[in-house]
Amino acid sequence: MPANELHETARALVAEGKGILAADESDSTIKKRFDSIGVESTEENRRGYRDLLFTTDGVQDYISGVILFDETIRQSSADGTPFPELLESKGIVPGIKVDSGAKPLALADGETVTEGLDGLRGRLEEYRSLGARFAKWRATYSITNDKPSEYCTWANAHALARYAALCQEAGIVPIVEPEVLMDGTHTVERAYHVTSRVLNAVYTELFDQRIDLEGTLLKPNMVLSGYEASDRAGVEDVAEWTLRCFYKHVPAAVPGIVFLSGGQSDEDATAHLNAMNKRGPHPWQLSFSYGRALQAPALKAWLGKPENVEAAQRAYYHRAKMNGAARTGMYAPEMEREAVTA
Ligand code: 13P
Repeated sequence: MPANELHETARALVAEGKGILAADESDSTIKKRFDSIGVESTEENRRGYRDLLFTTDGVQDYISGVILFDETIRQSSADGTPFPELLESKGIVPGIKVDSGAKPLALADGETVTEGLDGLRGRLEEYRSLGARFAKWRATYSITNDKPSEYCTWANAHALARYAALCQEAGIVPIVEPEVLMDGTHTVERAYHVTSRVLNAVYTELFDQRIDLEGTLLKPNMVLSGYEASDRAGVEDVAEWTLRCFYKHVPAAVPGIVFLSGGQSDEDATAHLNAMNKRGPHPWQLSFSYGRALQAPALKAWLGKPENVEAAQRAYYHRAKMNGAARTGMYAPEMEREAVTA
C-alpha cells in the first residue's frame, strides 16, 4: 500500500466545497430516528431510506464520502447495484463505521470506553474488499464538574490510536472521532478546556502509535456551551473558541477536520461551519461529517412513504448544498429560502 494512497483518499474527502454524509447509524440509533417519524425499523425500510439518500441526483457536487454501517455496506440499490459500487460510480468514497459502541468503562462510574478492537484487523480486510476506503471510530466524553477523568480521556485516546494504526495497515483512512458531548449546563469555556485535554491526549497517542497524520482526518465536536446552559455562546463566539482550541492542538499535517453535528439544529451546524471558514484560510480544511444535520429534514419529508421520496431527496440535496457553501464561508441564512421556492 503506497502511503500516498491514504493521503490522496484523505484529501479527496475534504475536497473544496464538499464534505461527508454520516449514514452509519447503528440498529438502535436508526430505530430511534425511524420512531420519530413513525416508521418501523425493518431491514427493507432501512435499505430503502439509505437508497433514497445515495441515489439523490447531483449530491456528489457537495458530498465526497458516505459512512456506512455494517448492514448497509452489504446492501444494494433497488436496481441491484451494491451500495459501495453505486457511491463509487458517482465519485463518492464509501466508508465504514467499525467501532462497536461506547460501553461502561470499568471502575469509572458514568464514563465510557469505545469497544471493537478485537478482530478488527480481519474486519478491516473484509470491509476493504467490499469497497471501503475510510473508516470511523467514535469515542464519547461527558462533561460534569469532575468528568471526563484522566483515566477515561487516555483510555479512549489509546483505543482511537490502536484503531487508526490497524486502519492504516489495511490501507484505510481512519477518521478519528473524539466527541465531547454537549449535554449539560457547562459554559463554552469549560467545553474549550475539556476538548483541549481530549485532543492533547488523542494526538499524543496517535504520535506514539506511529500514525501517519496526513493519512487521517479528525472528526471532533465544535466547542459549544452545554445545551442546557442558561447563557449560550452565539455563532461568532463558537467559531472563535473552536478555532482557538484546534489551532493549539491539531497538527498542520492533518489534512482536514470534519465536524460532527452532535445534536445542533441543521441550520446552526451550517452557520457555525461557515463562520469558521470565513475566518480562513486555515492550516487544515474545515469540513463536515454530519449525520442528523444533513438528514433531519429529509427524514421529516419522507415519513416512510414512496410518494415522498423526491421531496426527501430535495431536502437532503438542499442541506448538502448549504453545507457545501459553508465550506468556503459563502453561506448566508437567506439561502435557506431556496428549499421552499425550489
Ligand atoms: P451527528 O452529526 O448526528 O452528530 O452524527 C455524526 C456521527 O457520525 C456521530 O458519530
